[in-house]
Amino acid sequence: MSADNPAGGRVAMITGASAGIGRSLAIKLARDGWQVAVCARREDALRAIAEDHPDIADRVHVYPLDVTDVAESQAVFMAVEEAVGEVDTLILNAGDYDPMPLDDFDPEIFERLMKVNFLGTVNGVGAALPPMRARGRGQVLLTASLSAYRGLPQAAPYGASKAAVLNMAESLRPALAGSGVSLRVINPGFVKTRLTEKNRFHMPQLITPEQAADAIHREIDAAGFEIIFPKRFAWTLKCLRLLPYRLYFALTQRMVQS
Ligand SMILES: NC(=O)c1ccc[n+]([C@@H]2O[C@H](COP(=O)([O-])OP(=O)(O)OC[C@H]3O[C@@H](n4cnc5c(N)ncnc54)[C@H](OP(=O)(O)O)[C@@H]3O)[C@@H](O)[C@H]2O)c1
Repeated sequence: MSADNPAGGRVAMITGASAGIGRSLAIKLARDGWQVAVCARREDALRAIAEDHPDIADRVHVYPLDVTDVAESQAVFMAVEEAVGEVDTLILNAGDYDPMPLDDFDPEIFERLMKVNFLGTVNGVGAALPPMRARGRGQVLLTASLSAYRGLPQAAPYGASKAAVLNMAESLRPALAGSGVSLRVINPGFVKTRLTEKNRFHMPQLITPEQAADAIHREIDAAGFEIIFPKRFAWTLKCLRLLPYRLYFALTQRMVQS
């Protein structure tokens, strides 16, 4: 048991933990002995994690949070540190998605997804970095997406919000070098959750939230900037990033027309 953590074990805080990848990761980390603060808007869904898994009930701590609220994001981070212990790893995973074909262009979708996916992440980073930098330790993992690499058809609002997350992390990481604080990005491919239920197209190499949680868990203490999965799909998208625009648009135009 550490003096900084009354309950013992490492402390993780996960946003967007009431469903999907965040929920599976919370269960995985708690089973691994971590104290896990789970955050999302739906308190009943957060409470269900411990109810459904009595073996980890004493290691799961429920903190309702709307990540779009700056003050609430600060207050919840401080409350977790006070009650559960010094946050070792903060995983900013809360997210929303809607596909948007050109004919349905809607600024409100952009606003909503930017607020949750980008500004919600900014709020978490803003809450955690000052205390982590002051003590010279901690890590923050931001869930972006492989769709952050390049603009994909029907994904303009989502892709732009995730590209903003990735760009922000690339921008901040060098300034944290040597500080003891690590800022990293999780870039998943397709995972079968409420979000991808909205897709009407074939999703290559679709994996389960449990497989996604395993992939994150495997690299939770790695030094690299990115956690990417599934690997084959991720490397395909990395190669697409290298294509010149003429070839890239020839490919994505075919996706729009099919
Ligand atoms: N599924 C995929 O294929 C995929 C691929 C790449 C990246 N991702 C990213 O992975 C992350 C997790 O998504 P998922 O697929 O696991 O989807 P999910 O099952 O729908 O989970 C999304 C989580 O975000 C929470 N959330 C949404 N808005 C929030 C807000 N304003 N404040 C606090 N929490 C909020 C939801 O909880 P409440 O509704 O209770 O608030 C829920 O716990 C997201 O960032 C997503 O963009 C997913």
